[in-house]
Amino acid sequence: MFDNFQICPYTGLRSFTEEESIYFKGREENIEKAIEQLQSNKFLMVTGASGDGKSSLVYAGIIPNARAGFLRSKYTNWVVADFRPERTPFKNLCKSLSEQLEIENTDTVESELKHGFSALIDLYKNSPRHLDTDSAEWREADDNGKAVLKRKSANLMILVDQFEEFFTNPENYNHGAPSRESNLVLNVLLETSRIALEEDLPIYIVFTMRSDFIGQCSAFRGLPEYIGFSQFFVPRLNRTQR
Ligand SMILES: Nc1ncnc2c1ncn2[C@@H]1O[C@H](COP(=O)(O)OP(=O)(O)OP(=O)(O)O)[C@@H](O)[C@H]1O
Ligand SMILES: [Mg+2]
Repeated sequence: MFDNFQICPYTGLRSFTEEESIYFKGREENIEKAIEQLQSNKFLMVTGASGDGKSSLVYAGIIPNARAGFLRSKYTNWVVADFRPERTPFKNLCKSLSEQLEIENTDTVESELKHGFSALIDLYKNSPRHLDTDSAEWREADDNGKAVLKRKSANLMILVDQFEEFFTNPENYNHGAPSRESNLVLNVLLETSRIALEEDLPIYIVFTMRSDFIGQCSAFRGLPEYIGFSQFFVPRLNRTQR
């Protein structure tokens, strides 16, 4: 009965998805600016008032534009490991990473990431997403094999949507202090971002967060510096833009 109505240009109360990007209008300049920042800083904290379009800007603007080649990076393919913190941020990060990096077992990702804050970089480098042209596998592959390896390689975007859930859920934040699990996630992500920039690896970290929570961010060591380094404030759309 609803066969003709599968894609609706009005999303109601929910955010725009990547598939709905062709209906996403009024943000062209914002997308361009945000992409520029993400390209050079490899980190972006997207803030703005509640409901002003942060998640939509990332899902229907930044991601499809990156895939279309407007964010210049090492590979042509992109994988996006996105998650919301909810009440289990570490588990959610690991699940999303294991899917996008093609690591079958989420438990493996969980134990690896507990080894040290730089462990996510190693996971990426050892995954099919990273094309190592010095490796024996690459050198020994025939043209067909090389094409397969190339097809699997991809830039990695890690997206934490609704970052404020690190503060709104008591499992993640209690008496003004983040939980151990929350600290682990932040330490891993910020260290990943630092190394990605230092070694020029195609890894990009994006957070979306309601700006009311900006003050609380100082509870995480190093986070305020990253926000100062690369923040994009999503302005409210005026009537014509909408
Ligand atoms: N460019 C746009 N044009 C029209 N509607 C939009 C646009 N961007 C977002 N919206 C709509 O505005 C509402 C809020 O968008 P979205 O969920 O992206 O905002 P948000 O800032 O992430 O919200 P929250 O603070 O709850 O996380 C949704 O209904 C979405 O469909
Ligand atoms: Mg949102």
